[in-house]
Amino acid sequence: MIAGLPSLTARLVAGYRALEDRRNDGVLRDPFAIDALGIVSRAALRSGFATYTPHHRRLQTSVALRHRALDDGMLAEVAAGASRVLILGAGFDARAWRFPDALRDVRVAEVDAPSTSALKAKLSVRWPGRPPERLTTDFAQEDLGDALDRHGWGDAERTCVLWEGVTMYLPASAIKATLGALAPRLAPGSAVWLDGWAPSTAVHAFERQLVRLVGEPIRWSGRPDDLLRLASPHGYDLTVASNSAELGARYAPRRPVHPASWVARLERS
Ligand SMILES: C[S@@+](CC[C@H](N)C(=O)[O-])C[C@H]1O[C@@H](n2cnc3c(N)ncnc32)[C@H](O)[C@@H]1O
Repeated sequence: MIAGLPSLTARLVAGYRALEDRRNDGVLRDPFAIDALGIVSRAALRSGFATYTPHHRRLQTSVALRHRALDDGMLAEVAAGASRVLILGAGFDARAWRFPDALRDVRVAEVDAPSTSALKAKLSVRWPGRPPERLTTDFAQEDLGDALDRHGWGDAERTCVLWEGVTMYLPASAIKATLGALAPRLAPGSAVWLDGWAPSTAVHAFERQLVRLVGEPIRWSGRPDDLLRLASPHGYDLTVASNSAELGARYAPRRPVHPASWVARLERS
């Protein structure tokens, strides 16, 4: 991230969700996403400019698909008894506001870098409903466990962790350390839903350049099996792994998808 500035990729993916929200056949509804955008991006979005290439359309679809898959994952975990939802690298994730009924009796917290968290807090004051708790950290520099303990998230309760659109920006060591810090604070049966980008495809080169230009270079790309190698020493099993083609077939059968994107569920054993 550019020091002191809110994450631009967080705004970019919110922009894709805002575009998705405008589609009649959209795979999700996120009326809050547009608030993350500045005036120029809103104009670009309204003009349709943001989807002017097939490439952007595929990326938009895959960002929406992973969000929808994690929506469904979270709702299933809560229905199965998770009493807490912890959203890591939350950006402009609006689940706390999009699902007020399902999350009524659930403790929800968002964790993010300070600059993004501060902007989110400012923008979301207008959003109706109960705001989540807010924790700040840098996954690459700090022990997440310390931040969780400081904020009263240290007990091992049944928890659904969402970690969307973040692993690709971290070195493998930080992914492993974050999963390690979470592990003793998650009761057995807790789940971590997250996504990643598989190693290079031709299309992938485009995103590498895009995110490097906005100060958030790709640091990790791997497949679910590579994730499991980082997670299993901390007591996680891989129980779901879906690539974008599978998610597309489930939620948006007629739309081309980005080939590198995947979603996984790790279960604390
Ligand atoms: C692509 S955005 C995803 C945001 C959100 N999860 C979503 O899907 O809309 C990446 C997020 O990860 C956060 N992030 C990236 N690297 C981080 C780090 N080292 N420490 C804390 N947060 C980080 C950014 O602040 C940003 O909110």
